[in-house]
Parts: sequence; C-alpha cells; structure tokens
Amino acid sequence: MVAKKTSGKNTAKPSKKKADLPVVARPSAPAVRGNNADVVAHETNIPVVREESPPPVVPPDKTVARVTVKTVARPSVKTVAKTAAVVNAVKTEDAGAKRGFSPRPMPDGNPYAPTPATVAEVIRETENIKTLRVVLEGSAMRSFAYEPGQVGQLSVFGMGESTFVINSPPSQKEYLQFSVMRAGEVTSAIHRLSAGDKVGVRAPLGNFFPYADWKGKDIFFVGGGIGMAPLRTIMLHLLERRKDYGKISLLYGARSPLDMAFAYELEDWMRRPDLDCTLTIDAPFEGWRHKVGLIPNVLLELAPAPKNCLAVICGPPIMIKFTVQALEKLQFAPENIITTLEKRMKCGIGICGRCNIGGRYVCMDGPVFSWAELQKLPPEL
Ligand SMILES: Cc1cc2nc3c(=O)[nH]c(=O)nc-3n(C[C@H](O)[C@H](O)[C@H](O)COP(=O)(O)OP(=O)(O)OC[C@H]3O[C@@H](n4cnc5c(N)ncnc54)[C@H](O)[C@@H]3O)c2cc1C
Ligand code: FES
Repeated sequence: MVAKKTSGKNTAKPSKKKADLPVVARPSAPAVRGNNADVVAHETNIPVVREESPPPVVPPDKTVARVTVKTVARPSVKTVAKTAAVVNAVKTEDAGAKRGFSPRPMPDGNPYAPTPATVAEVIRETENIKTLRVVLEGSAMRSFAYEPGQVGQLSVFGMGESTFVINSPPSQKEYLQFSVMRAGEVTSAIHRLSAGDKVGVRAPLGNFFPYADWKGKDIFFVGGGIGMAPLRTIMLHLLERRKDYGKISLLYGARSPLDMAFAYELEDWMRRPDLDCTLTIDAPFEGWRHKVGLIPNVLLELAPAPKNCLAVICGPPIMIKFTVQALEKLQFAPENIITTLEKRMKCGIGICGRCNIGGRYVCMDGPVFSWAELQKLPPEL
C-alpha cells in the first residue's frame, strides 16, 4: 500500500521554459571553504555551493597506478586466498559464465590497491549530501574507462573505503564524480575532505546498465533522493546518444526541495526539449510549483505506457518497493524494470562474500539488475 496520496495541489505540468523551483533557505547554510568558493543562485533558486575551484589540470604523464580494464572470469575463492597478485594470473574455469553471470572487469595488479587521486572540487548538494570531483593521478585519469552504472570504492586514508556510483558520464574525462550521503564513519570523513586532499579510488567495479539493448525504446527514469546519482550517469549518457532512443523521461523526487541533489542541473533538465522531466516532493513546501506527492503516486498519475518502454529506478529500498508495485499496476513486465542495488560491499571484486544474495554477488553480477532477475533471488534485501 502506498502510504500517502498525491496532493491535488501544485500538479500543473512544469513549464519547459523556466524551472520555477522555489526560493529556499537552506537551514544549515553551508560553511564555504576554499579560495574560490562561490554561491550560485540559478533560476531554480536553490542555492548551490561550490566549495572549491574547478579540477586542476591533470599533471604531466606520471604513471602512479595503471587502471587497465580487462575481462576476466570470476576467480575461485581458494585461488584468490593465496595472494592478491595471483588473482590476475588466474584464468581458471569460467564458473560465473556457466551460471549465466556476465563477464566483469578487474584492475591489473593488486586488486585492493587504490589508485591515488586528488579531490579537485567539493559541491554541497544538500544538508547531508556532498559531491566530490576527484582526479586520478598521473595518466590514470586519461586512460580510465567505465560504463554507466559502475561503482568505485572511494577511500579516505586511515579511515576506510566505501562504495559509490560514479555519477559523471563516461564522456567526462577530466574527473570522476561521486555524490556521497553522510551515513557513518567513512562518509563523514569524506564530508570533511576539501580540494587538494588525497584519496584512493578502486574502480570501475560491477556491471552496468545494458543501454545497448535499449536502443529504440522509451526510457522512464525514476529517482529518489541520492538514488538520482546512478540515474544521472546513464541519463546523461543516453542524452548524448539521443537519436538511438525513444522518449526519455525523468521523475525525480525528494522529501523537500532542500533534499534535491543536483539542484543546479534541474533547470537545464526541465528546459531540455529532448527530456520530459517531472519533479516531486513529499509534502507541500512554500513556493514549490511542481508536483507534491510520493514518487509511486506521481508515477501512477503520469502513467507511462509500458509498451516498448523500460523503467529504470533507483532510490531507498522503500521507494523501490512501492515504485515497482506502481509499475506492475501500469503493466510493466518485470524484465522491463531495471534497478540498482545498494547491498553493502567490501572487496567489490567477488572475493569476500559480503554482498551475496543467494548465488549472486552484487559487486560483480550487479549492482544493476532487472526486476525479473531479482525475483529469482532469495528475499534477503
Ligand atoms: C553499489 C553501491 C552503490 C552505492 N552508491 C552510493 C552513492 O552513489 N552515494 C551514496 O551516498 N551512497 C552510496 N552507497 C551506499 C554507501 O556505500 C554507504 O552509505 C557507505 O558505505 C556507508 O559507509 P559509512 O562508513 O559512512 O557508514 P557505516 O558506518 O558503515 O554505516 C552507517 C549506516 O549506514 C548504513 N549503510 C552502510 N552501508 C550501506 C549500504 N550499502 N546500503 C544501505 N545502508 C548502508 C549502515 O547500516 C548504518 O546504519 C552505495 C552502496 C553500494 C553497495
Ligand atoms: S563485496 Fe566482496 S564479494 Fe562482493
């Protein structure tokens, strides 16, 4: 059952000409750090704080750690236990492939060694979400390749590492972007970083959105809160290949305008003629002129036609649950509902077993799954 009904108020279709988001005062006005900090008030009127200047020029050719992506079979746990160096030499039986798992990339060398990187810019998105743009050191940045939906382990030295979606599109070659919601120790340490700080990155990890199979189809993105991060990557990637796809729509919801990440981009997204963008918040908010209502309710109201359409959803588990129910009501087939999971990870490379659901490892067989695939897994989520 969906907890709350869509309000009848404020449901007028948003103007494509101007994204009339309200003027909002963020209660916890961000502490602006760094020399070039500026507060940008866009037409969305949601203040955006750039904590540091744009990423520095990548230093001259100085190879620190080479990230070469290659496809390997999943190594057996026994073999991996010997030494990390052996991992890459092992090309034993392709057990994963036999079980229908997709091939996956693995970095060369010690798979646990992060690539050194420098924080180039920090953007405060909301009271508890910050976006970091990090530049891999040496030639690693230029040679880095990844696909939309893949994740990275971002480490703060002396604190630990945590998993985040790379939410810059692969065409962005200057930096990798991670948006981090403060949850516990590591994410709090990440929130304390500023431009110039050193971090580590293990990436790319996991599978990705099978966008090549989506050609000719309509795509309906549904994002909730920080769940907009992976959708941003794939959505921008598809928009760069616009002619290959049918109608592209986005329904993005958050608790309030203050909780909307990427607020500085919403104006552009609302204006784009090639993207149908709808914003919603959970409860009325002064000055808000878009939808008010929980995402599943607004989705039912928008009622995208399921024929030749894929729904790609990401958000908190409760939102995913009710959004899937809404999509099923709209007659979307389970294989046409795609989501990404945030099951906790440790190694990220199929060794430690931390992320398994039944016979599947979220770090290797995911994080992207179709609803049809998830229905076959034990209900452990
Ligand atoms: C594939 C994947 C992609 C992710 N992408 C992002 C992203 O783009 N942005 C982002 O902000 N976060 C993302 N996460 C979640 C992020 O990894 C965790 O929030 C982070 O590891 C918490 O670390 P911590 O040390 O700060 O918190 P901890 O001290 O480890 O935990 C603090 C609290 O957060 C909960 N928590 C920790 N990890 C998770 C998790 N994976 N899922 C749900 N609850 C968790 C804990 O149960 C605890 O209640 C992703 C996770 C995965 C597995
Ligand atoms: S995180 Fe270690 S197996 Fe997936």
